[in-house]
Amino acid sequence: MTAKIVDGRKIAENIRKKTAEEVEYLKSKYKITPNITTIKIGEDSSSELYLRLRDNACKKAGIMSSHLEFSKDVSEGKILQSIDELNSNKDVHGILIQFPIPKHISSNKLMSAIAPKKDVEGFNPYNMGKALIGDERIVPCTPLAVLTILEHEKINLKGKEIVIVNHSTVVGKPLAALFLNRNATVSVCHVFTKDVKQHTSKADIIITATGLPGFITEDYVKNGAFVIDVGIAETEDGIHGDVNFDSVKEKAGKITPVPGGVGPVTVACSLKNMLKTYKNCVEEK
Ligand SMILES: NC(=O)c1ccc[n+]([C@@H]2O[C@H](COP(=O)([O-])OP(=O)(O)OC[C@H]3O[C@@H](n4cnc5c(N)ncnc54)[C@H](OP(=O)(O)O)[C@@H]3O)[C@@H](O)[C@H]2O)c1
Repeated sequence: MTAKIVDGRKIAENIRKKTAEEVEYLKSKYKITPNITTIKIGEDSSSELYLRLRDNACKKAGIMSSHLEFSKDVSEGKILQSIDELNSNKDVHGILIQFPIPKHISSNKLMSAIAPKKDVEGFNPYNMGKALIGDERIVPCTPLAVLTILEHEKINLKGKEIVIVNHSTVVGKPLAALFLNRNATVSVCHVFTKDVKQHTSKADIIITATGLPGFITEDYVKNGAFVIDVGIAETEDGIHGDVNFDSVKEKAGKITPVPGGVGPVTVACSLKNMLKTYKNCVEEK
């Protein structure tokens, strides 16, 4: 079997187009342009690339985006104070933190400080907790991208065996909650999982996000499974995902490539979330 290669760029283009149309409609209704601020601390080459892609996507969708930049040795207190100011600034409709951030700053504290209604990334414990109890408000962009890809491919998640190889706050934990909300059977693997292959080889759907290039080989995959590769690793010969694409595509039913799979859909889903935070702000009584 040769897998269908799912084109993330095409899915993303569709979302971006719909978002731009809705932004245009809401701008003419409220006479307010969506305005998003990203907090960036220190320098990081992958962050720069991601920021550029997102800024570009915002521009095309009619969303204003700006950065608040701090040096790598800025204090946690200073960042918390800035978040506070952005929370109460009526002209700002969404706030993001660009990760990674320096180790002396607690990501949990920053995520908790962002007002839930302006929380574009959906990492605030209020939004996370709401998702956990099945009341999904703003959900993190990468899990949302994975769901969007599955929806696009018309996969009914009810009763599916799904294995996620990642248990971070950004990917695995919120994604597990979203799958449980849709009545899938979910296993979550991480570095202490005794035998990852034993889990993935029985899965109908595998979501992998370890950042280890080529980690998922064909023997990790059941015939006809849907393999979604979230991992991104920069190596000497370019960008790679977790999946050994050439061998796995001969066994899987559907597969997302890297690049051109989950990445562009994540950027598009971040626009969708910006639209939500904007609406939260302008439609507030
Ligand atoms: N495409 C996109 O839009 C997008 C968005 C976000 C992230 N990413 C990519 O996704 C990857 C993960 O991102 P992240 O922020 O979640 O990073 P992270 O916190 O480092 O997560 C890596 C996860 O993989 C697990 N892991 C590592 N080695 C493993 C092994 N040998 N066996 C089983 N599990 C293993 C880790 O387990 P432990 O926690 O137990 O160490 C952890 O849960 C990165 O490559 C990142 O660049 C892509």
